[in-house]
Amino acid sequence: MDSFVIEGGARLRGTLRIAGSKNAALPVMAAALLADGKSVIADIPNLQDIRSQIELLKLLGCRVDRQADGKLEIEVADESCSHAPYDVVRKMRASICVLGPLLAKRGHVRVSMPGGCAIGDRPVDIHLRGLRALGATIELEGGDIIAHADKLHGAEIFLGGNFGSTVLGTANVMSAATLAQGTTVIECAACEPEIVDLADYLTSMGAKISGHGTPRIVVQGVPALHGAEHRIIPDRIEAGTFMVAAAISNGELNLDNVRIDHLMAAVDKLRSIGVIVEKSGEGVTVASARRLEAAIITTQPYPGFPTDLQAQFMALLAIANGNSIVSEKIFPDRFMHVAELTRLGARMHREGATVIIEGEQQLIGAPVMASDLRASAALVLAGLAARGTTTINRVYHIDRGYEKIEERLNALGANIKRVDQSEAE
Ligand code: EPZ
Repeated sequence: MDSFVIEGGARLRGTLRIAGSKNAALPVMAAALLADGKSVIADIPNLQDIRSQIELLKLLGCRVDRQADGKLEIEVADESCSHAPYDVVRKMRASICVLGPLLAKRGHVRVSMPGGCAIGDRPVDIHLRGLRALGATIELEGGDIIAHADKLHGAEIFLGGNFGSTVLGTANVMSAATLAQGTTVIECAACEPEIVDLADYLTSMGAKISGHGTPRIVVQGVPALHGAEHRIIPDRIEAGTFMVAAAISNGELNLDNVRIDHLMAAVDKLRSIGVIVEKSGEGVTVASARRLEAAIITTQPYPGFPTDLQAQFMALLAIANGNSIVSEKIFPDRFMHVAELTRLGARMHREGATVIIEGEQQLIGAPVMASDLRASAALVLAGLAARGTTTINRVYHIDRGYEKIEERLNALGANIKRVDQSEAE
């Protein structure tokens, strides 16, 4: 198991290209199961979660090839296996997004029920409710979701839950509805850019979808979909993470391949605390040259502040002037990073789903433990700002969502070594 050893204090400077979005790529790859014919998808990042999704697609009868230019070709060759087993699903929860496509295309599917994870309980009841409304019969057996439908039919579906809309739930129901008979209206649909990207891909496959990007998506079913070419949108969470890296190190970064319109809530917060963020061409320049101000942040579904940037901003606010308040409204238990940031000298007090951060602290390097993808990113950011050496154990979490993050940060002036854990201890 690898660890990172970070010598803090460097000011990051330079230019970096943001990769294609992991969370857009995963449902798009699953949607390729709906097509008769080959899809070619550009800008799929080279990450552990993507490799797990490729393994799953192969298990489900797809031929998957990465071309020399990085594009991924996906073509269904054999439809006999529709089973996503526990071994795969437990490694990557997003395997659940094969549920809708397999049900619609093959009429039956068996997907292991994903468990909870380090960011909290993660039920899939709303996915199942939506698919039942389209006419599926669904039962649970031996920890698996087993769904059947001779032919799905259009329906009016309310897809909201206690925490608002669901991203992968919307992906599953929208994908399944493309091949249903008649019209489906999804109310309280997720508006995230990743859903818009999926709808764009489905549309280029021949689907008839409107309203994506709003809470009301309308899908008119079609008899069949064909393969298509598609380019994945830039990863807004990776972009936000590197924006915080520029700010926390008092540096200046030019980030290429950024959709600033996908990041307005985060950009607004950065500007309000004193970070300079300017659009430049296809990207942004982010700079900070002074102690930042405190902020009040509440995570919300898009276009609100993303839960996937909550941990990274908390690391930043730990060294800002004064007291900040961060409330988590999507995953109320997503605070595993709080105890670890505290080990680095941050002063954070949690009350339920809210954390009060007493800023103005100088972070000091220490050994810490990565618990999930974004928590690990927050620890790397804190390590960049800390005095002395920070050792982050279990960095396999970060490899799930950021390609070679240490090499890319080092190219900007950071000092991070990847070592085998036994060497780090
Ligand atoms: C997606 O997860 C992302 N994952 C997550 O990114 C992200 O944190 C999350 O959306 C919220 O933006 C991928 O895209 C692969 P949800 P998803 O269904 O779709 C509740 C990262 O770090 N809910 O939108 O699984 C749920 O518990 C990851 O890259 C139900 O109650 O999240 C949560 O409170 C982690 N029942 C809320 O809805 C359901 O059936 C939103 O979750 C489904 C969800």
